[in-house]
Amino acid sequence: MSTSTITNPVSAAAAHEISRRRTFAIISHPDAGKTTLTEKLLLYGGAIGLAGSVTSKKEQQSTSSDWMAMEKERGISVSSTVLQFEYNDCCVNLLDTPGHHDFSEDTYRVLSAVDAAVMVIDAGKGIEAQTLKLFDVCRRRGVPIFVFVNKMDRPSRPPLELLDELEKVLKLAPAPVNWPLGDGERFRGVYDREKAEVNLFERTTGGTFKAPLEVAGIEDDKVREALSDDLYETVTQEVELLDGLTEPLEIDRVLAGEQMPIYFGSAMNNFGVQNMLESFLQMAPPPAGRVSDGKMVEPNTDSFSGFVFKIQANMNPRHRDRAVFIRIVSGVFERDMQVVDQRSGKKVRLANAQKLFGQDRETLDTAYAGDILALVGNYNFLIGDTLTSAPKVVYKEMPRFTPECFTYIVNKDTANIKRYRSGMEQLMKEGVAQAYHVHGSLQAVPMLGAVGPLQFEVLQARLIAEYGVETRLEHSPWSVVQWFDEHEPDPLRRDRNAPKVHLPTGSAIARDQDGQWVVLLSSKYMLGVLHDRNDHLTFR
Ligand code: G4P
Repeated sequence: MSTSTITNPVSAAAAHEISRRRTFAIISHPDAGKTTLTEKLLLYGGAIGLAGSVTSKKEQQSTSSDWMAMEKERGISVSSTVLQFEYNDCCVNLLDTPGHHDFSEDTYRVLSAVDAAVMVIDAGKGIEAQTLKLFDVCRRRGVPIFVFVNKMDRPSRPPLELLDELEKVLKLAPAPVNWPLGDGERFRGVYDREKAEVNLFERTTGGTFKAPLEVAGIEDDKVREALSDDLYETVTQEVELLDGLTEPLEIDRVLAGEQMPIYFGSAMNNFGVQNMLESFLQMAPPPAGRVSDGKMVEPNTDSFSGFVFKIQANMNPRHRDRAVFIRIVSGVFERDMQVVDQRSGKKVRLANAQKLFGQDRETLDTAYAGDILALVGNYNFLIGDTLTSAPKVVYKEMPRFTPECFTYIVNKDTANIKRYRSGMEQLMKEGVAQAYHVHGSLQAVPMLGAVGPLQFEVLQARLIAEYGVETRLEHSPWSVVQWFDEHEPDPLRRDRNAPKVHLPTGSAIARDQDGQWVVLLSSKYMLGVLHDRNDHLTFR
């Protein structure tokens, strides 16, 4: 890839604004403490203080990014949003990712819009299934990972064992920035390896205030008093051992995705959160450019460009509006600016960009590369669209996912057909699931595919809540999808000279929502049969 030079850079003031942006997401297995850590970071960033609502758990939830009833009922975050706050001259954009045992495409798309990720791990459990999947996505995208080992106030696994697991499973060099002094009832604080000082832990009630922090050298009497003799000995031995076991932290290696800084703490007790935030902001990268047609578009390029990574309809059921979330890749957004949607070629005026904070909104006049724009209104964008103020930039940031679950979602009451159609059309635009048009199918509706069954539940719940349409799921006979290479001609072609497609029993030809040809198969075994019988064809 050739790196383009910036012929028309942004102004010095804009360059400064861009350089102080830090855009990241917190990822975790459900229950590891992502929501709690998010709340605490907002507390330090003053964002919750401004909203004036950290008084009870109930109110805390209403300020967080969970706004759908289903999320509240199930305690999961189905939709994602962005929260912006200032900290130490950084402008921090924190993107919320849904956390659930089933993963969804939505989470992956959000990760395309960030420059770093904080992975929360439950100290009692270590790496869990969901963390691993999310980690894989980050690694494939080259997103640097910072690890927060949470819940040290509860019985945890031995920290050296956790370190070993992180290294073996994630295959990244671990670099513990601090080290825990005990765990559970015996948790006394952390040792900051760089500063060579101990931060002593004090329990706080409810954890809604910034934790008091007492700092001392490891030799200090206060530290010896706080730790029992055996714990003091264990900790000092471990701290010594670490110097031999781990390599020194190097920012360049962190940013290259080779090394992961690790922090221990307790989000609920506000312990270790501020230190982690400060250290993270020092190391986390400023906005990265994105590639268009083999060339890197740098954030400091004068012309505005960005891509749509999320669409959320009906955020406020009373207004029936849509929010389109755009990651700004380059330049500066100004209210009312005109851009071209590179997919449709249409000019669009970006009139109504807003800053969202849960249910609250504020009109946004200016935003910079690295920021997330939330456009609210009736914009006709699709996920993956590139918007630019100058032509010839197209980002291909949206990963295509191979669905693992298939179903039909059928309207129960024909009287609602119009609402069913408009709901499905809207929710498909949001990318809630993928639609497949099966050749020769007797079903009147397209088959749907998703990476996890949660996506179907969300679709059904939203059809009821937002469109008043009851649906039922109908079984699909297929469980595997195989795309043809885009250069392969129409597989249904009648041309006698063209090589035929030999389909295994029970399979079918279909088109995905972008018009690409696929084969639907009943099992992984049948996928092998398809490949064996068609080695004259290329598949993707
Ligand atoms: P998630 O978003 O990753 O799913 O996790 P969340 O923050 O909701 O935390 C899951 C549970 O773990 C919550 O308890 C939360 O209070 C608790 N938790 C988070 N951080 C810590 C910590 O540092 N120490 C301890 N001991 N617990 C922690 P819950 O019982 O599910 O909810 P709640 O009754 O506290 O609201």
